[in-house]
Amino acid sequence: MPEIRACLFDLDGVLVDTAKYHFIAWKQTADSLGVPFDEQDNELLKGVSRRGSLDYILNKGNLHLSEERIELILDAKNSHYLRLVGDMTPDEVLPGVFDFLHALKLEGIKISLGSASKNAQLILDKCELSPLFDAIVDGRHCTHSKPHPEVFERGMQALNSKPTETVVFEDAINGISAGNYAGCYTIGIGEPDVLKEADLVVSGFADKTPQSLFAQLKKTGKPKIIA
Ligand code: BG6
Ligand code: MG
Repeated sequence: MPEIRACLFDLDGVLVDTAKYHFIAWKQTADSLGVPFDEQDNELLKGVSRRGSLDYILNKGNLHLSEERIELILDAKNSHYLRLVGDMTPDEVLPGVFDFLHALKLEGIKISLGSASKNAQLILDKCELSPLFDAIVDGRHCTHSKPHPEVFERGMQALNSKPTETVVFEDAINGISAGNYAGCYTIGIGEPDVLKEADLVVSGFADKTPQSLFAQLKKTGKPKIIA
């Protein structure tokens, strides 16, 4: 395994616990449309764009709405979400994240965001995470949604790293697939029985160091095949 030179981080559910705010806002949207929506639906929507998430709810309810109505619903969902994240502070950064990012910087490993969210910059700023990033790639820069690898390919471009030197950190099934399609090593943040395709799964960053995770990857990670 070559030396790791770059790390690409998803935002929601990896660095901050915003997945719960997305869930509250989508649940209200689904309720207002009369479509059942629970935690399992939410799991499938992790990493999926705003529009892709609404399409999922509309499909589930077999609803066909005009583009105009869809735009109004998307705006309402995002306004609700922005109210929920409006008071976020660095206290909501998940345990161990600041130490882990600082350790990467000390080792000279480059850091990029790789998020589907168009609200990513706002949340990074509120949580005082922005200065730790060498590049920010998010929903504003990408045409394709995870599991398409675009967001991580752009991250590697920005950091000038090769897939075999790059680790993706993700909490979403779609995000792990995107990292794998990009040819990177993938570390899942969450449950091994959910993130089955990840090279390694951990519960979070508390008490983890980059070198301890990379050593585990070396033992368990599959060799990467670059097309
Ligand atoms: C992802 C979240 O990071 O961003 C999804 O996991 C969310 O749940 C997506 O739908 C888009 O976010 P936003 O902030 O642009 O609506
Ligand atoms: Mg996520």
